[in-house]
Amino acid sequence: MKFIPYGRQHISYSDINAVKKALKNNLITNGKAVSNFEKKVSNYLKCKYVSTCNSGTSALFLALLSINVKKNDKIVMPSINFISSYNICKTLGAKVYLADVDEHTGQMTPTTLDQCIKKYKLKKVKAIIPMYNGGLPANAENYLYFKKRLKSYIIEDACHALGSSYLYKKKFFKIGSCRHSDISTFSLHPLKTITTGEGGLVTTNDLKLDKKIKMLRSLGIKRNSNIHWNYDVVIKGFNFRLNDFQSALGISQLNQIEKFLKKRKKIANFYDKYLSKITNIKTQKRSQIYKSANHLYIINFKNFNKYKKNKFIKYMKKNGVTVQFHYIPIYKFSIFKGNLKLKNSEKYYNTAISLPIFYDLKINEQKYILNLIKRFFKVYK
Ligand SMILES: Cc1ncc(COP(=O)(O)O)c(C=O)c1O
Repeated sequence: MKFIPYGRQHISYSDINAVKKALKNNLITNGKAVSNFEKKVSNYLKCKYVSTCNSGTSALFLALLSINVKKNDKIVMPSINFISSYNICKTLGAKVYLADVDEHTGQMTPTTLDQCIKKYKLKKVKAIIPMYNGGLPANAENYLYFKKRLKSYIIEDACHALGSSYLYKKKFFKIGSCRHSDISTFSLHPLKTITTGEGGLVTTNDLKLDKKIKMLRSLGIKRNSNIHWNYDVVIKGFNFRLNDFQSALGISQLNQIEKFLKKRKKIANFYDKYLSKITNIKTQKRSQIYKSANHLYIINFKNFNKYKKNKFIKYMKKNGVTVQFHYIPIYKFSIFKGNLKLKNSEKYYNTAISLPIFYDLKINEQKYILNLIKRFFKVYK
């Protein structure tokens, strides 16, 4: 039996050739490929400034350092989340407030954000970090209101959302254009829309932030003369750089992004059509305003609990299919000190599952997955 993962990269011959070529250059790091990749991303997203870095986690780290997050600063983020942003904020000594989510998308909404603000009586917040779970850029244009209200930055954790876009005043804006945020961050991990092996992107329209981000990713070094040994260190930075052969892979992958997005959409539509007929399942609502990159294909089981969900995961695994869950509420982890339980996060935790979706997923594999699900509901009524 063939094993079907829930996601995987697609590497073409042109990708391999691009990397090979880059490896033959004199500079394999700090060379031209890095800035070429950044220019290409900037054109694609229509954002002024782009910085590559070595992971989505580094991208978030750079974003939060660039706005100077420090001890006791207040940060709001959704409870259903990848752990990167939480870990970074806590490392910097910030106070993190977890907002509840929509029970179907697993995303924070203006309503759950408002509830969180009221519950903790927040007046001034350093940053709000929406996370576009699965790639759906829900409410992307609606966080600016909170920026003004709480004098905060909006940092989008868009690690799932490269290629996602939203309609605003009759025009589509790509996530990462930063039309309604200060900074967007992306991951280029193999399971994401495009990959550089490991990698990340930080985008902004603010020149000051961009300069700081670029300095922070390269040890805080400022070169102010043409004498190669002469430099100053003006800020405490790190080595978060993406190298040239990764950037060459990024360029080659970005050349194929429309093909990747089209295939993901095709699979999502196929799943939607079939699964919407199964009464025990609720598929995600499709929107004309928010176009997802379909990084994940999330479904919600009706009347499920953790026990039934685990049974489903085991059943799929036994039949060669890995399904995943994105994500366990942060407040359930040992590192979370406190007592928190959020109603919709619990519902989402009990009912949501991500099915396999990736460029090379064959039609017969999609059918196989769908038939397995159908059979599950016959066997385990
Ligand atoms: C929502 C989200 N944020 C941040 C990250 C971190 O990205 P990376 O794995 O590239 O460090 C991920 C990675 O999966 C993610 O899904």
